[in-house]
Amino acid sequence: MADKHRINFEPVDIEMEVGEDEYILDAAFRQGIHLMHGCREGRCSACKSFVLDGDIEMDNYSTFACNESETEEGLVLLCRSTAYSDCTIELLNFDEDELLSGIPIQDVRTRVVAIEPLTKDIVSLRLQPAEPAVYEFKPGQYSELTIPGTEERRSFSMATTQSTPDQVEFLIKKYPGGKFATLLEDGITVGDEIALTGPYGSFTLKDGHVLPLVFIGGGAGMAPLLSLLRHMVETGNTRRVHFYYGARTPPDLFYLDEILELGKGLVDFTFVACLSESLHPPVQGAITVEEGNVTDVVRRLEPALGKSEVYLCGPPPMVDAALELLEESNTPHDQIFYDKFTSPAFD
Ligand SMILES: Cc1cc2nc3c(=O)[nH]c(=O)nc-3n(C[C@H](O)[C@H](O)[C@H](O)COP(=O)(O)OP(=O)(O)OC[C@H]3O[C@@H](n4cnc5c(N)ncnc54)[C@H](O)[C@@H]3O)c2cc1C
Ligand code: FES
Repeated sequence: MADKHRINFEPVDIEMEVGEDEYILDAAFRQGIHLMHGCREGRCSACKSFVLDGDIEMDNYSTFACNESETEEGLVLLCRSTAYSDCTIELLNFDEDELLSGIPIQDVRTRVVAIEPLTKDIVSLRLQPAEPAVYEFKPGQYSELTIPGTEERRSFSMATTQSTPDQVEFLIKKYPGGKFATLLEDGITVGDEIALTGPYGSFTLKDGHVLPLVFIGGGAGMAPLLSLLRHMVETGNTRRVHFYYGARTPPDLFYLDEILELGKGLVDFTFVACLSESLHPPVQGAITVEEGNVTDVVRRLEPALGKSEVYLCGPPPMVDAALELLEESNTPHDQIFYDKFTSPAFD
């Protein structure tokens, strides 16, 4: 049996046990402690924390998420850290409401109920939980789906909410040669089983927060933002939402009718489609279209970013560019929430 150690988290004064055969973040989840995290693959830096005392080693992480000078200072990524002694760790980011009351991680056997192409490279995949029959999650969170026939997993954000428990929807971008993507072409069909584990992620609306919201998404990054929007309408949330969605051309846009309809259920909602390559053929209907990449459009149209809560989600280059813009506009870090859609096969 692996040696065990105690970890004390500051400044929240929570203690837990960790084995030398598991990462600290996984040990925390196992014990119902929901530390701040994003990718769980050492790529996004959301779980970065400071080691005050103890012997910790990290493996298999990206130096973009934690660089050499940071590791020398004592910073670690808890999703890739193993403890070899009792330790005291200072959490740099944490959500006090979530820490001890997050939704427990569930292993769910699901069945595919629909696979529907939405654009040339984005597919809607709907899964019905079979065992257990209900999958509990918060809007904005993500699940790990096991690639059928393998032990490998990929993370996908839920686009739906708890109001459609029989149909948990995922929006999946098909990267050429992608292992999961290729299966969507001809490997998975309606009725097949897919194993799901979750929920993970901290990309959720925080109770009691009132600042106006700016949503910035690109590609399949639509998924958790749509979940948040659907949730806001279902719960009568009155916060203002400005939603900027980046795509290349008009045929890359999807779910526009539903977004406009959701907007009618919100108190103050705008949606801007930001097209980086071409405005043709023209988008039909009452959609505001701007030319340029999504970060440039937000820079032009949102002078008061620093007074908003910003939710960003999509491919890593888009998220990185938007984070730079938020830095320039002095948006406080605790007003920024993001999920970078990293892949284990792509750094
Ligand atoms: C927290 C989180 C949430 C996520 N949510 C979603 C989601 O809702 N929808 C979704 O589609 N994806 C999401 N992802 C990404 C997803 O988990 C997969 O990594 C991605 O779909 C690629 O999986 P794959 O098996 O098809 O391709 P892989 O086999 O992993 O990759 C194969 C090849 O595809 C290309 N590729 C993969 N990812 C990228 C990229 N980001 N940019 C450029 N090229 C790339 C590379 O050439 C790579 O070598 C999320 C990731 C994280 C960490
Ligand atoms: S780097 Fe640890 S959660 Fe992303």
